[in-house]
Amino acid sequence: KDLPTDKESAKKGGFRFYMEKEIYEQFDILKETILGRNTEDGIKFDEVDKSFFNGINNIIISACGTSYHAGLVGKYLIERNAKIRVDVEVASELRYRNPLLTKDTLFIVISQSGETADTLETLKMAKEAGLKTLALCNVDNSSIVRVADKTILLRAGIEKGVASTKAFATQVMTLWMLSNYLGDINEYEAINSAIEATKVDTALHEKIKRLSKRYLHGHGFFFIGRDIFFPLALEGALKLKEISYIHAEGYPAGEMKHGPIALADPELFVVALLSKNILYEKTKSNIEELVARDATVLTISSEFIEMTDDFVKIKNSNHPMIEFFEMMVITQLLALEVAVRMGNDVDMPRNLAKSVTVE
Ligand code: G6P
Repeated sequence: KDLPTDKESAKKGGFRFYMEKEIYEQFDILKETILGRNTEDGIKFDEVDKSFFNGINNIIISACGTSYHAGLVGKYLIERNAKIRVDVEVASELRYRNPLLTKDTLFIVISQSGETADTLETLKMAKEAGLKTLALCNVDNSSIVRVADKTILLRAGIEKGVASTKAFATQVMTLWMLSNYLGDINEYEAINSAIEATKVDTALHEKIKRLSKRYLHGHGFFFIGRDIFFPLALEGALKLKEISYIHAEGYPAGEMKHGPIALADPELFVVALLSKNILYEKTKSNIEELVARDATVLTISSEFIEMTDDFVKIKNSNHPMIEFFEMMVITQLLALEVAVRMGNDVDMPRNLAKSVTVE
């Protein structure tokens, strides 16, 4: 890390981009997110109490972009830990399809800015229908916070990079805590270890910098994973396309054979998120299928697999969410380094805005 030479780079803490700074910050930010909430006796939220959730039989989550991907992770976690059915909706779709809204539904919106027009409109719609509403938001006193019945603040601090990183991390963390809270489950230790796993190892970052040169000139990327690693694949692909302008898709690993595998050749790049804990053998055989069709595959896992072209090792696989957070950082760094090599302005990607307040 070079020493800052001017005011602008001082603000970036000596990092090349705000996005890079924000990736490195996640370790400290997440400690803020869980402060006073993740306790040895379970999860506590000052903002809400258990009675708020009385009579709730299911949940709808509404969000856009990266926040939508966090919502998808939330579905897996809440259904698994709290046994409450969750539907996750893209706000711009939900808004215009006259959804069936019943009063036993808790309506959750997720938003970094608290100003996204489509998300805000769905929130108003749910309120008018008499649903209980909860916002997971990073900006206090934002439009969304003002409308929602209750808010749990994400505490990510100001996020400058247009491509969201630390806000996503806090959204997933908050949903994980919420799933514990609603399900009366205590994953105190795992939550703390997951935060440890977001600490950027500079040797690993160097490795990704080196690796990235092999992933510039293909005809596109597929990020694949199963279970919670599927929404992480969606988010990994979104990060990459936002800042590198290379086409990337996130796909459920088991679904590749139903179409996308037709694209496999050496110029198809695949980033495989291979969890040791969830569907390991099945995901591994999905990877084998792609290797057999000569795709260029980078595997991220705690378990070394020889067959793929590249491999990035994660250190701690004691819990799927620990794997999740460690893999998240790796996919963020990969997107960053590919974009840097393409010569792009990582913090101000073309055609994108940090906050979309119009339709
Ligand atoms: C914009 C940003 C995305 C973000 C999305 C939702 O499109 O570029 O990074 O995920 O809005 O924003 P929100 O503030 O509601 O999370």
